[in-house]
Amino acid sequence: MKTNDELFKNVISHAKEYGFVFPSSEIYDGLSAVYDYGQLGAELKNNIKTYWWKAMVQLNENIVGIDSAIFMHPKIWKASGHVDGFNDPMIDNKDSKKRYRADQLIEDKIARYEKDGKTDKAAKLQADLDAALNSDDLGRLKSIIEEHEIACPVSGTKNWTEVRQFNLMFSTQMGAMADGSEEVYLRPETAQGIFVNFLNVQKTGRMKIPFGIAQIGKAFRNEVIARQFIMRMREFEQMEMQFFVRPGTELEWYNQWKETRLKWHLALKPNPSKYRYHDHVKLAHYANAAVDIEYEFPFGFKEVEGIHSRTDFDLSQHQTFSGKKLQYFDPEINQNYVPYVIETSIGLDRMFLTILCNAYEEEDLSTDEKQDSRSVLHLHPALAPIKAAVFPLTKKDGLPEKAREVMDLLKIDYNIIYEEKDAIGKRYRRQDAIGTPICITVDHQSLQDDTVTIRHRDSMEQERVAIKDLEKLLDGIVGWKPLLQSLL
Ligand code: GAP
Repeated sequence: MKTNDELFKNVISHAKEYGFVFPSSEIYDGLSAVYDYGQLGAELKNNIKTYWWKAMVQLNENIVGIDSAIFMHPKIWKASGHVDGFNDPMIDNKDSKKRYRADQLIEDKIARYEKDGKTDKAAKLQADLDAALNSDDLGRLKSIIEEHEIACPVSGTKNWTEVRQFNLMFSTQMGAMADGSEEVYLRPETAQGIFVNFLNVQKTGRMKIPFGIAQIGKAFRNEVIARQFIMRMREFEQMEMQFFVRPGTELEWYNQWKETRLKWHLALKPNPSKYRYHDHVKLAHYANAAVDIEYEFPFGFKEVEGIHSRTDFDLSQHQTFSGKKLQYFDPEINQNYVPYVIETSIGLDRMFLTILCNAYEEEDLSTDEKQDSRSVLHLHPALAPIKAAVFPLTKKDGLPEKAREVMDLLKIDYNIIYEEKDAIGKRYRRQDAIGTPICITVDHQSLQDDTVTIRHRDSMEQERVAIKDLEKLLDGIVGWKPLLQSLL
């Protein structure tokens, strides 16, 4: 039986071995917390995006999608509170020269107390940490680290600097001339691109409240420490939707979106016990309700998505900072108001990791006669990077030509691959490892009666199917329709 640590390591090496995720700039020894998606990773990522976009924009008449720029006017980040408040408390160890998030060092200590059964000590430390964070008391964070004798995991010493605030936004200069340039930020969230386009979309799309604006795009955060593979990255992607509602109705919509979003996750048929809600007890000053959807990764339950009732905070701030009215005239109540907003925000890369962790299995197939096993990705067929693999049983007798005909029939609608190398069993295993739901084998009988053998990834069962029925069969298994219908 593998430990969770071993399992997670295997997921990471599987992702690399099969072309899902590579460390960025690997031939230069990598760049910390930045990753590249390989040939299969890019397909899986695109399929996740499509699933989210279709669920949001296609299935909801009152949600539209945009694609706003990464660079935005610097005042936007002042208005949103990111310039002044988007900080993590950091601390350096003077011997190892390593930098840590002070709160995470303390959280690790709490976890160690819990592991050792010192639950009272853990609870007291948690309360002290919460109090220090709530009051932004950096001196207190340092004294907690000293009181609990927290040492640097690298040097083992307690030779710490003071705790300082560290802003997570990356900045750069816009404009060719150094003296004429302006400091701009790489957006730390996609949401602000939606807020500042609220009126553009509402007016040009003649949108009536309640309505939503969705967006998928890159975000950048200079995380003090980034760990757990693609869980916490410095460059990542978000899929966010802001739903604009009449003030006073926001909690109703919040509850509805909370349910809708969990249903979206569960429609992929993961083990449902691996999902839970985590309601925020302490709310940000602008929120009147907030919840995380958490997934149980091999390293514990962690946030995958946040649903927040953000009141009229963002639009009001942009009204103040831009001097432009961001109001909606509601004909039903004959009133102008700044709409309230429910936000759903999910990290695409984190969703990708959720899907990989959930799909990966090292399956024991041993029988009394022989030892056997396979690595398999039980991906939802609609998300699988390759929908079907077509194999000629042998490389001769016209089987490759017939297999190519089958492939040509299917490749307009689906991502199909052709493989003729190695024994058929080995070819099946390779496809299992990358999550291909269906393998189609063309054999001598196919030349006579236009049928093929279909082999299903999860059950490994085989059936004989007429070539003319393949398109319909694929539509029913790997198409979007069954998945999207389950959301209605
Ligand atoms: N607009 C709200 C917002 O950005 P957030 O909780 O900071 O809220 C939303 O981020 C989601 O983005 C998270 O639930 C997570 O899935 C993802 N995310 C945040 N920081 C990330 C990082 N450094 N690496 C990968 N994903 C991240």
